[in-house]
Amino acid sequence: MIGVFDSGVGGLSVLKEIKALAPSADLLYVADRARAPFGTRSLDKVRSMSHELAAWLIDRGAETLVVACNTASAAALDSLREWSPGIPIVGMEPAVKPAAVSSETGVIGVFATEATFQGRLFESVVSIHGRNAKVVTQACPEWVELVEQGKFSGSDVDTTVAAALAPVIDQGADALVLGCTHFSFLRPTIEKIAGPEVMVIDPAPAVAAQTIRVAGAIEGEGRLRLAASGDTSVFAQLARDVGIADWSGEVLPFSA
Ligand code: DGL
Repeated sequence: MIGVFDSGVGGLSVLKEIKALAPSADLLYVADRARAPFGTRSLDKVRSMSHELAAWLIDRGAETLVVACNTASAAALDSLREWSPGIPIVGMEPAVKPAAVSSETGVIGVFATEATFQGRLFESVVSIHGRNAKVVTQACPEWVELVEQGKFSGSDVDTTVAAALAPVIDQGADALVLGCTHFSFLRPTIEKIAGPEVMVIDPAPAVAAQTIRVAGAIEGEGRLRLAASGDTSVFAQLARDVGIADWSGEVLPFSA
């Protein structure tokens, strides 16, 4: 079974890609909505919450773990791997490399949480892959909020997305990295506002492919279970809103 976690609904963007690549995989997803957002918390706090979420998934039989949250990956990927050496653990990394390779202006924009930008992972990705580019960073906690409210389009969403895009596009960025899993669900709006000259890069498909590679033989029954802290019925509705269409079960309660 593959266990996947995030602070909220964002990691479902990765889960959907995993499901598309491996329909027979058994999946358990947990969203810690009661303690979200993670992106404005300290890295230490996010690390300890990530360990609780990982332990919960492993206790329920996860043999592969996906940290479907850039913030949790920034805070906890190394310590999770040290803590649980026998389990393959896949995490998110801002896609600075493909952005730098495809940019023609030499300016790339990265959208992520404040905590992700503070982590060593971001610093090292930029120093390895972003050396020849100008990397413009933009934290957008409002985008996380929109997605957690199930708002993906409409004039309010356009206004909020445009406000964070403007300073990045104004500096000449022509490749934008979605460095937070929540932002996948805003991609159509981001693309509409950024325009056809700007490329938007979402690492979710690559992370799903990596998950399938490390998971080895997949011999499940295509069972999907969702869990959340906080109001489970709100999360159930959000899951349907983001296109977990064939899912009709109950959301299990999660508490740390
Ligand atoms: N989905 C998470 C990420 O990828 C963070 C959202 C939050 O701030 O909780 O960074």
